[in-house]
Amino acid sequence: MVSFVANFNAMASNTVLLTNIRSLFQTRTDLKTPVKGKDLSVLPSINNAFLLIKDGQIEDFGSMSSLPSLNVPIIDCTGQSVLPAWCDSHTHIVYDGSREAEFVDKIHGLSYEDIAKRGGGILNSAARLRTATEDELFDQASARLKEVIGYGTGALEIKSGYGLSKDSELKMLRVIRRLKQSTDCLIKSTFLAAHAVPLEYKGRQAEYVSHIINDMLPEVAGEGLADYMDVFCDRGFFTTEDTDRLLEAGWKYGLKPKIHANELDFSGGIQTGVKHSAISVDHLECVGEDEINALLNSTTIPTLLPSTAFFLKLEYAPARKMIDAGLPVAIATDYNPGSSPSGRMSFVISLSCIYMKMLPEEAINAATINGACAMEVQDTYGMIAKGYEGSIIITKNIPSLAYLPYSFGSDLVDKVILKGKLQ
Ligand code: NIG
Ligand code: FE
Repeated sequence: MVSFVANFNAMASNTVLLTNIRSLFQTRTDLKTPVKGKDLSVLPSINNAFLLIKDGQIEDFGSMSSLPSLNVPIIDCTGQSVLPAWCDSHTHIVYDGSREAEFVDKIHGLSYEDIAKRGGGILNSAARLRTATEDELFDQASARLKEVIGYGTGALEIKSGYGLSKDSELKMLRVIRRLKQSTDCLIKSTFLAAHAVPLEYKGRQAEYVSHIINDMLPEVAGEGLADYMDVFCDRGFFTTEDTDRLLEAGWKYGLKPKIHANELDFSGGIQTGVKHSAISVDHLECVGEDEINALLNSTTIPTLLPSTAFFLKLEYAPARKMIDAGLPVAIATDYNPGSSPSGRMSFVISLSCIYMKMLPEEAINAATINGACAMEVQDTYGMIAKGYEGSIIITKNIPSLAYLPYSFGSDLVDKVILKGKLQ
């Protein structure tokens, strides 16, 4: 397989033509983003299609009956379908080691918050990360990146937040910068020092917030290490007052908010995110009328992370209610060692359909174009349109779109092409 990929990429030079595609999904010529409400259940597609990728971008697509005659390398997709690569807008893939001992503690009855309170959870990962070298972290995160690309992810957000000190947060963000430079997957980076209060600031949360604002932020921004600012605004973590201070400071340095909110409680995090014009508010297991109304009057993308609800046995976010109220939703993996040790977007899509009552079309829109909106890359990612990045998934032979979420756990990805290159 490796030599096939190498040979193909060498041979294909700058152009590749996919022919006889059973269904080419998410084809758009004109779209107002994000996709909301009733529109989410519409996924435009072309049957028996071709797709031409040139210089890493989508040059042309259409029905096989209108295929122009071209002398370029061909991938015959007979029986197979094509989708834009997944846009996974919320992950924490830079971390050291793993936390399966806590997984076993949970089987014995401890909750995520119990584990956090006794110094486990995020603080456990922080202790490990502080002693790991940048190279070690890069190698581990590269392996995870390679893994998720294999699942079909073509755009990915990655957060810091296991450093919780200036040096270690900067170390994480530098690893993310190296990842950005090393891959055909588009990566956005988010500064999340306000993920937990580190041990050395125990009982002095407001001082830790000041430390982030006064000492960390200027360096993070000065080195251009982050695209976004995040805060874990929830019960037992950071308050809405802390979040106000942090997001205001982030904006001063040009870091737009993308925050963790309402995972553990009706924390006010959603309203706080909306107040600060967050690009997205993420998790949202605890959502009622007030939260829906706040989101309806905003441009903030509600981003749902159902594999976290699955892994922690939380109530799922009320996606159906949100969509029926006219909201857009994005879905993402939250890939991290504590609450979602999986970066498989197809599983997130299955969970969205099974537990959040989303239709397959809604879940695919949420995993592609709306995920792209949650990373502000909707002009180049998340759909099949001329001039968009040639970042796509070629499925195995599947009978229909609904087969994707239905056949949960199966590996239905045959090939992944990112920026025109076979991965
Ligand atoms: O998104 N909720 C906060 N942070 C992560 C969990 C991180 C961890 O447990 O290591 C999340 O679920
Ligand atoms: Fe998260």
